[in-house]
Amino acid sequence: MAIVHVTRALPGDALERLRAAHEVTVWPGALPPTPEQLRESVRDAQGLLCLLTDRVDRALLDGAPALRAIANYAVGTDNIDLALTRERGIDVGVTPDVLTEATADLAFALLLAAARRLPQAAADARAGRWRTWEPAGWLGADVHGATLGIVGFGRIGRALARRAEGFAMTVRSTADTPLDELLAASDFVSLHCPLTERTRGLIGADALARMRCGAILINTARGAVVDQDALRAALERGEIAGAAIDVTDPEPPPPGDPIFDVPNLIVVPHIGSATRGARARMTELAVENLLAGLDGRAMPHPAGG
Ligand code: DGY
Repeated sequence: MAIVHVTRALPGDALERLRAAHEVTVWPGALPPTPEQLRESVRDAQGLLCLLTDRVDRALLDGAPALRAIANYAVGTDNIDLALTRERGIDVGVTPDVLTEATADLAFALLLAAARRLPQAAADARAGRWRTWEPAGWLGADVHGATLGIVGFGRIGRALARRAEGFAMTVRSTADTPLDELLAASDFVSLHCPLTERTRGLIGADALARMRCGAILINTARGAVVDQDALRAALERGEIAGAAIDVTDPEPPPPGDPIFDVPNLIVVPHIGSATRGARARMTELAVENLLAGLDGRAMPHPAGG
């Protein structure tokens, strides 16, 4: 029996399988543990099931010498120092595939919401500003037949492309088009690349300036792929028409962050994978990874695999 720490109560019942095999503690808070609290919780642990809000860095690993298996409850791994876990022989697993469709659904929902200005229209209807059917009221962008540029053509990018086909959109992706060209040619640009040192700040002032002035940016990847100040400036100056983001940097934005005052910007709280089915399946995959890693078997869904 190994000592295992789980950093949050998780949807679904797969944690029971972990409890049946190992001595499991679960962080009881609704908010993430602080780095100090997490260090204390994993001091003697051999297994860790963590969230994207938990940083697995040198300080944490130095304080957890027995750790040999980590299951991240996410497909992204930017919260984990993978070079260091590799160096220390600690297996790391992720939760691919099971959240692909849910995240692509959200990206397309954000695209439609931004194009058709749903938040403004709904707020106006609720506030009594819907006085009549207006020929020129609440006009938005055409989605059908528009060009969609997908930055990062992995599982989720490809799933988004399948949705776009149903809307007769022309799809370009960074798999076949250089980024600058894609930005200049697209009515909608959707980000689906992982956050790495190469993609940090990828969409900054220069990239935004290359986009069409009627274009809309969608981000369901990681907040730091976009330079948030540059995005705010581009929206305020009307250099692009709108944006809809599921991810910010930091998360959540601090209270009073000017990002919430930007016109034509929809912000939702990192809900790409937030369907009951996807989140329960993420728990199953994380548990399968951890059970395998603690057993000395290869994880079924290793990071980078
Ligand atoms: C991930 O898995 O990396 C998402 O951002 C959360 O579902």
